[in-house]
Amino acid sequence: MNISALKNFLIAHNLKTPVMFYDENEAEKVVALISEYLKNSDIYFAVKSCYNLNLLRYFARRNLGAEVMSELEFDLAQRAKFKKIILNGLGRSEQFLIKALKQKNTTLIVDTMRDLDIVKKYIATHSQASCQLGIRLRFDLSGLHVATPYSGKENKLGNYTDSEVYKEFISLIQNEKRAKWDIVHMHFAINELCSEPYVEVMKILRKHLTDIKQKYNIMPQRIDLGGGIEVYSANSKDKLKNLFNSVANEFANLFSHQKLVMEPGRFLSASTGYVLGKVIDIKKVKTKKWLITDIGTNVLIPNQNARYELLHPLSDSRGENIGITDGITSSVNNIVEDTYVNQPIQIGDDIIIGGVGAYTDVYSTFWGYAPFVICYIYKSGRIKITRSPKDVNLLHSVFFPK
Ligand SMILES: Cc1ncc(COP(=O)(O)O)c(C=O)c1O
Repeated sequence: MNISALKNFLIAHNLKTPVMFYDENEAEKVVALISEYLKNSDIYFAVKSCYNLNLLRYFARRNLGAEVMSELEFDLAQRAKFKKIILNGLGRSEQFLIKALKQKNTTLIVDTMRDLDIVKKYIATHSQASCQLGIRLRFDLSGLHVATPYSGKENKLGNYTDSEVYKEFISLIQNEKRAKWDIVHMHFAINELCSEPYVEVMKILRKHLTDIKQKYNIMPQRIDLGGGIEVYSANSKDKLKNLFNSVANEFANLFSHQKLVMEPGRFLSASTGYVLGKVIDIKKVKTKKWLITDIGTNVLIPNQNARYELLHPLSDSRGENIGITDGITSSVNNIVEDTYVNQPIQIGDDIIIGGVGAYTDVYSTFWGYAPFVICYIYKSGRIKITRSPKDVNLLHSVFFPK
């Protein structure tokens, strides 16, 4: 990221801050890292974390698949030309499931009895059809040595191994040659930096699949451990390498006949996005110094899984302690609660917040401020405006009709 190039672009196109950028050069770093460490695996991008079509097309060109959970996301993935799709979700219409079953590149993850009934009906009424299926499983993970946010909680998605849905799924795979068992799917981690939860779940799965093989003589072709990997940053990079390394090694030890699948969302998208804004005021509240910025939390919704960081001016813990915020009252509306600046900072200075490529634009709305203008930076350095000020005005008229 070259701040003078960004500023020159803004001047040349008469754009005012805040402007959000998705940067292919940043995307390249995460794709290169995961491809190097999980080289014998299939990586699917969890589309729900970012809908920028240019970024989706880039991931598709880099041979990632798309993990989607609705028809809207499925259609986006097709538009972006992903070669492989995993379709997750609940409450998908029959018409949509049939559309997906007709696509040879799509694996349908079934989660309910109704999903299974639709698959059976499809096979019965299409004599030539065969379909790639997956089942979403869940185990009681409360005994894991390392807790994950999903360990103890009830979750609507997935099936326990003694459930009717799973039994029916097994029976379909056993009795219907045209129903292929492609994937066992799980998703149980979030912002994870350690391999332990993945390794422990793999061990549970290995034991379970050995039982299934003995009892029914069937096996899935691939094992999908879901997403939940921490956002990439200078601080997390080495831990992420260790995580991927251990997961890949343990997978190779445990499963000789299956391929590993992972479907990260925020690991792939968060670090690809940053916002250029301005310091519009500086306010001291007791001992805390707040930089008030035009980068609004109407887009950078600060939920607990967000990992926004100050990229410019440079910061490290030897500098002055500050917070970065906007004008919305709620105390969760701080972009970065505690960080540091290493140089004197004044009203009017430029500021860049990174780690904003995931779950920001998909949540963005008119709340206090308007959604951002968005640009896409290609690897060549070319910058394209993908949401112009005119588009923002159009959104304005849709939100606030005359
Ligand atoms: C099934 C599934 N896969 C992948 C993801 C992506 O998760 P993350 O962005 O934490 O990697 C999610 C997120 O909710 C999910 O539900």
